[in-house]
Amino acid sequence: MSQDWQRLNDEVTALIKEARANVLEKMADPLTVNEKTNRKDLVTNVDKANEQFLIAGIRRIDPTAHILGEEGFGDDLKSLDGRVWIVDPIDGTMNFVKQRDNFAIMIGIYQDGEGQLGYIDDVMNDVLYYGGPQLGGVWANDERLSAPANLALADGLIGASGPLVIHDVAQMHKIIHVSAGMRVYGSAGIEMINIMRGKTLGYISHLKPWDIAAGQILLNTLGVRVSAIDGKPLNMLSSNLVLVATEKAQRDILQIEEDDVSL
Ligand code: IPD
Ligand code: CA
Ligand code: CA
Repeated sequence: MSQDWQRLNDEVTALIKEARANVLEKMADPLTVNEKTNRKDLVTNVDKANEQFLIAGIRRIDPTAHILGEEGFGDDLKSLDGRVWIVDPIDGTMNFVKQRDNFAIMIGIYQDGEGQLGYIDDVMNDVLYYGGPQLGGVWANDERLSAPANLALADGLIGASGPLVIHDVAQMHKIIHVSAGMRVYGSAGIEMINIMRGKTLGYISHLKPWDIAAGQILLNTLGVRVSAIDGKPLNMLSSNLVLVATEKAQRDILQIEEDDVSL
């Protein structure tokens, strides 16, 4: 790993710790909550303030950075050329509003489309997950994580997004039926943490780039597959129906997709 990436990592971890402290401080005051596209798609004053804080910090650390931010304070990105930072200031805003728990701060750093460093901060548990190819591993605070077991679909729990299950998109009912059971956490970041920890073997959800940017880097580093539901690479400039899974479970799920059989 070059000194430049090590320096970058030190600066980003310090920035995220500061962002976390700001978020906790703001949680002491009433939140301002607004709907974006519908009543289940929320944004708060904290999402906005945190994105502005993170983007200002990123511009100090990396003045020529291209930044894609969920709440629109970054750049209007048309390509993944150069160094691209993808920011989700609060992942799991519904949990943040309703539970004050189970939400994350996430940053993914890409170089010419290749994931380099990922960060998922589990705010309420005070654990920062970080790593990627530039660090040669993944850490949870000071603990180095080992690769989760390569479980087959039948041998583990699978994370899912509620709407996909309700509408049985992409054979979700069949996939869940074959698995050992379904779990729904309401935050892509928390889902990714559970996979890194081996608590679930995968996750299926319709996601925007900022929902999956950090997780893709961390999970790939631990040998977990991240793809579109058909097994093809994600388009990091648009929405994707995302399939995250151990290698064996990915194979099982792609087979179910192909078989197109009903329960
Ligand atoms: C959402 C959460 C949720 C997922 C949604 C995301 P947000 O992120 O990760 O779990 O199902 O698709 O949009 O909007 O709270 O940052
Ligand atoms: Ca968000
Ligand atoms: Ca998100």
